[in-house]
Amino acid sequence: MFKESIVVLLCAASSVVAAPTPGATVYQTRCASCHDPLHPRVPPRAALQKLSRPQILRSLYFGVMANIARTLTTPEKEAVAEYLGRPGSDAPPLPSALCTSSTPATKLTGNWNGWSPTSSQARYQPAGLSLTQTRNLKLKWAFGFDGDVTAFGSPTLIDGRLYIGSAAGVVYALNAKTGCLHWTFSANGPVRAAPLAVGQTLLFGDQSGWFYALDTKSGLLRWKRRVDDHEAARLTGSAVAKDGVVFVPVASWEEGLALNPNYACCTFRGSLVALRVADGSVVWKTYLVPPAAKHGVNSAGADRLGPSGAGIWSAPTVDSKRGLLYVTTGDNYSSPATLTSDAIVALNIKSGQIVWTRQTTANDVYTSACANKGPNCPTENGPDFDFGASAILVTTAGGRDILLAGQKSGIVYALDPAHKGEILWDARVGKGGVLGGVQWGMASDGEQLYAAVSDVVRKTRASTAPDDVKTVSVDASEGGGLTALRITDGKKNWYAPSVPCPPAKPGCSPAQSAAVTAAPGAVFSGAFDGHLRAFAAEDGSIIWDFDTARAFATVNGVTAKGGSMDGPGPVIAAGMLFVNSGYSRFGGMPGNVLLAFSSEP
Ligand code: HEC
Repeated sequence: MFKESIVVLLCAASSVVAAPTPGATVYQTRCASCHDPLHPRVPPRAALQKLSRPQILRSLYFGVMANIARTLTTPEKEAVAEYLGRPGSDAPPLPSALCTSSTPATKLTGNWNGWSPTSSQARYQPAGLSLTQTRNLKLKWAFGFDGDVTAFGSPTLIDGRLYIGSAAGVVYALNAKTGCLHWTFSANGPVRAAPLAVGQTLLFGDQSGWFYALDTKSGLLRWKRRVDDHEAARLTGSAVAKDGVVFVPVASWEEGLALNPNYACCTFRGSLVALRVADGSVVWKTYLVPPAAKHGVNSAGADRLGPSGAGIWSAPTVDSKRGLLYVTTGDNYSSPATLTSDAIVALNIKSGQIVWTRQTTANDVYTSACANKGPNCPTENGPDFDFGASAILVTTAGGRDILLAGQKSGIVYALDPAHKGEILWDARVGKGGVLGGVQWGMASDGEQLYAAVSDVVRKTRASTAPDDVKTVSVDASEGGGLTALRITDGKKNWYAPSVPCPPAKPGCSPAQSAAVTAAPGAVFSGAFDGHLRAFAAEDGSIIWDFDTARAFATVNGVTAKGGSMDGPGPVIAAGMLFVNSGYSRFGGMPGNVLLAFSSEP
């Protein structure tokens, strides 16, 4: 008896002395069961300790551990990375990667600033690349993102400089002609939004809810601000600016947190935030759903909270004529449903007040817990038909303004901005689904609208052993397709079916989830199979094709390869085309390369 209590006392004392850090606790409870026993296919703890902290975070956010880490909070991910990983950041760039005083001055004319050349979000570059140049595009240089498994940043081209973010949270300023490096900046989280230049200020958000203003010349920080206090906030959509104010769309990954049965689901509220470019002070912030209240408990005993959701995943659209901003929204995460989810919403640009809302799918309440009928799946259970793409504002030859919005449902809508977003026509361009339909963006040259669809078919199988974590794969023949619609009435002018994957290309899917880009006479669409294809605007025939799913020699000396293409689309200016390749999520082919093409020899 006596002895026993001494043991208890000793244990208590030693646990006080070596109080586990938050990172050690996360490791013990969430990682050790697989990584501590020696197993040939699981990297042991000692191997994880050789990785840098950004590498571990990348693996948790976007790599092989993404499924396992989905239910960890951001502070838990950061704590375990700090506990395990080497301090400091990734290896510095090689001296040979840097621009020097002998680097020839870049004489490139034409810009692509932010998500689209203009804030109409049409993703059309009128003078960037002629049809003949498109047919003759050749690879000029490749740039590798060191140690990354995903390349999903959207580039911006300003006066011969290319600015691009990465999954490691590093933002790069490159010479567009040669790919040499002017400077780098490390953000707190991965950067996928396209940087936006306003004068000498470069503005962008990251996947942890932080928004930054840098000096374009030096890359030095002017100011940064977390634009939302919700832990799951992420800034995926690119910002737009007008009259010294930058408008930042806010989304979240709280749907993934809901996989944890004990998570009190859900409280995130989608919003648009207006900040002064000069100092980052808030002009206004408009939420799209009211604050959540408690509505009972789930079957695991956790609080049910709602409403929530209606995140904004894409860049806002500016309508200067009417003094409006248009945003598109995602689903609700918890009941009650609101009228602002899966909607196109018009806000007053000066006050942020909501002027009108056009909802296209009502009662769409969904979380990732619905995939396996978890306690945090709401009774509505989907269909998860977010808008992931920006609305496009176009003016027809007849002078009529039309707002075009494509949804994950596979349906495209044309709205009348002069009449509170009344629907002029709609057209089905895909099957639609959780990862389906129009995902990241469409393009329009003012006559036709080009809508590519994902419609990826994802297969999940049960894990057979602790080391069996690659349980998600994609179907090699289902998905994809590109449709050209006449903008005046939605008539289908042509349809280019997807190209099925060759056999034995693991992680290959014909899905065309990435954003589309248009130039005179040509439409560019990247696919999950790793190909970037140019289609003739006239009839949809393929006029140029480049397979990016291979290894590349890079100008910065980093080992790099291409893979699946998803997220942002190609950026065109000054006779050149820039595109990222590699997307390891959803069972796709990993990669870490930025490619630059030109028609000049
Ligand atoms: C169910 C078992 C399991 C759990 C739990 C698990 N891991 Fe892993 N982890 C693996 C396996 C298996 C691999 C190797 C995957 C591969 O490369 O195919 C791996 C690989 C990794 C890698 C290396 C990835 C790379 O890019 O090389 C990191 C880092 C990692 N895990 C971190 C963690 C952390 C941190 C946790 C806890 C939050 C965790 N893992 C929990 C099984 C697990």
